[in-house]
Amino acid sequence: MDCIIRPESPDDYARVHDINKLAFETDSEAVLVDGLRQEAQHVISLVAVMGDEVVGHILFTPVAIGDTTPSPATMGLAPLAVHPEFQDHGVGGELVKAGLEACIAAKAEVVVTLGHPEYYSRFGFTPAVEEGISYVGSDYDAFFLIKELVAGTLEFFQGEVKYHRLIEEL
Ligand SMILES: CC(C)(COP(=O)(O)OP(=O)(O)OC[C@H]1O[C@@H](n2cnc3c(N)ncnc32)[C@H](O)[C@@H]1OP(=O)(O)O)[C@@H](O)C(=O)NCCC(=O)NCCS
Repeated sequence: MDCIIRPESPDDYARVHDINKLAFETDSEAVLVDGLRQEAQHVISLVAVMGDEVVGHILFTPVAIGDTTPSPATMGLAPLAVHPEFQDHGVGGELVKAGLEACIAAKAEVVVTLGHPEYYSRFGFTPAVEEGISYVGSDYDAFFLIKELVAGTLEFFQGEVKYHRLIEEL
């Protein structure tokens, strides 16, 4: 069945909450997404639809890198969730690809994420530490990843990444 990616709408909120809760097996990410909708600005939130059912969700929020302030130029991907019954059908991949395109359309220059390198490398993410960018010291170096969306912009960003307060508190 084809998977369509579209911006999230208020009608999706309850279903997106359930998908995050089921995918992560705790309600932390579901509650986080609900909070970020209220508090964060310049959020990019997309859902994946199969048939008439929402089956996946991806969120991007502005981050600060080094001495920059949080800005839509530097986005953080978190969380990404696909309903367990719909995993391994390419839905996550479609969400990441459409999400990156939405970030480019919103004038983002780089995207960071904390995740599995084997999964995110297929979308062009590489270890952020190789670019002089880290998250909470060196503890996450193996899993903290970055993708340059606009060629030549990465060199302007150096240092520690800070997500929205609610993500930092997770
Ligand atoms: C991770 C997740 C979003 C992937 O969504 P999906 O729709 O199942 O993924 P896709 O169908 O696009 O891709 C499937 C591929 O990703 C791989 N993959 C899935 N989860 C992975 C993980 N945690 N680490 C490494 N690879 C992973 C699968 O093995 C599969 O590989 P293949 O294409 O070589 O067979 C989904 O499994 C999920 O919601 N997981 C629970 C929440 C989570 O961990 N979110 C991501 C935080 S980093």
